[in-house]
Amino acid sequence: VRGAVCVVTGGLGFIGSNLALRLAAAGAAVRVIDSLVPTHGGDVRNLGAVDVESLIARISDPRCAEVVEGADVIFNVAGQVSHTASMIDPRLDLELNTVDHAAFLETVRRVSPSSRIVHVSTRQVYGRVPHLPANENTVANPVDVNGVAKLAGEQLHMVYARAHSMATTSLRLSNVYGARQRLTSDELGFLPVFMRNVLADETIEIFGDGSQRRDCLHVDDVVDAMLLATDDEAVGKIYNVGHRCSQSLAEIAEMMVAISGSKSEIRFVPWPGEHQRIDIGSFKTDSSKIEAELGWVPTIDLAEGIRRTVTFYRDHPWYQSSI
Ligand SMILES: NC(=O)c1ccc[n+]([C@@H]2O[C@H](COP(=O)([O-])OP(=O)(O)OC[C@H]3O[C@@H](n4cnc5c(N)ncnc54)[C@H](O)[C@@H]3O)[C@@H](O)[C@H]2O)c1
Repeated sequence: VRGAVCVVTGGLGFIGSNLALRLAAAGAAVRVIDSLVPTHGGDVRNLGAVDVESLIARISDPRCAEVVEGADVIFNVAGQVSHTASMIDPRLDLELNTVDHAAFLETVRRVSPSSRIVHVSTRQVYGRVPHLPANENTVANPVDVNGVAKLAGEQLHMVYARAHSMATTSLRLSNVYGARQRLTSDELGFLPVFMRNVLADETIEIFGDGSQRRDCLHVDDVVDAMLLATDDEAVGKIYNVGHRCSQSLAEIAEMMVAISGSKSEIRFVPWPGEHQRIDIGSFKTDSSKIEAELGWVPTIDLAEGIRRTVTFYRDHPWYQSSI
């Protein structure tokens, strides 16, 4: 990537900032577009003092044309993560995850149609899957508006590959954790909430019996997958990206407590209705396609990932405060 012009949408958020910093360290010229949506994970401090051009705007904003023009690679990471928020304000989720992406793809088609595009989708598109692990042929059957909106966003990228011969790829990520994730929100998944709890020695509340399983990915492994997804082999394709190992939520909480040396207790509480009605049960990703075609493998196991993450947040305490 040395010398390449790379655009990262959502680049002030969790995954986007980790990617932008990796690209900048490798010598890319990095441009970021992020609208700092309230309650999302975006924060200008995520990029620190690194020399990155930023446009604070929705990806549907016409000013994005100047940013994407001449880009070698566009990593389209912008999106709304919260499943519960998508059920409270479905229209906003559809705007952020679908309509804005349609406008953005049109901008790129107009001013920079040969740019390579890697979009970030989610395993949430599958919904509740009867036979695990889920591979890319598993029927997408979303349980919430967020899954519908992300599926539409991802499929728009495939339409632009087929109909307009644009070089797009979409990655369906499993649950991601690591440095630069907003810890103070309850809306961005259970991993940042558990992490916040262990750092503050607060009780971890697990909905139900904690037996649901997840294959959690460290953000550095996700960045590796995004870089490998720029390969020509990946054009016009969707890939699952998840870990080979899975753990139950109870096991994940226990590992976080033990590894961090926290005094947190773990308590099992009844499911809140707004979570239960969109629960997917257990999930396990089959990532054999990206492993075989692009040579990606997760390299960070959960214990090592938790160690690195705890160290990062202890070194950067502002992530635990809401200001
Ligand atoms: N975090 C996870 O566990 C996870 C799992 C699967 C998929 N994903 C996907 O990864 C992407 C990034 O998630 P994250 O965890 O880094 O979240 P995040 O909230 O930390 O970052 C997302 C960033 O995108 C920005 N944004 C959202 N919609 C935008 C729009 N329409 N225009 C401009 N900026 C916009 C927000 O301001 C925020 O800074 C999302 O698309 C999400 O669906 C995340």
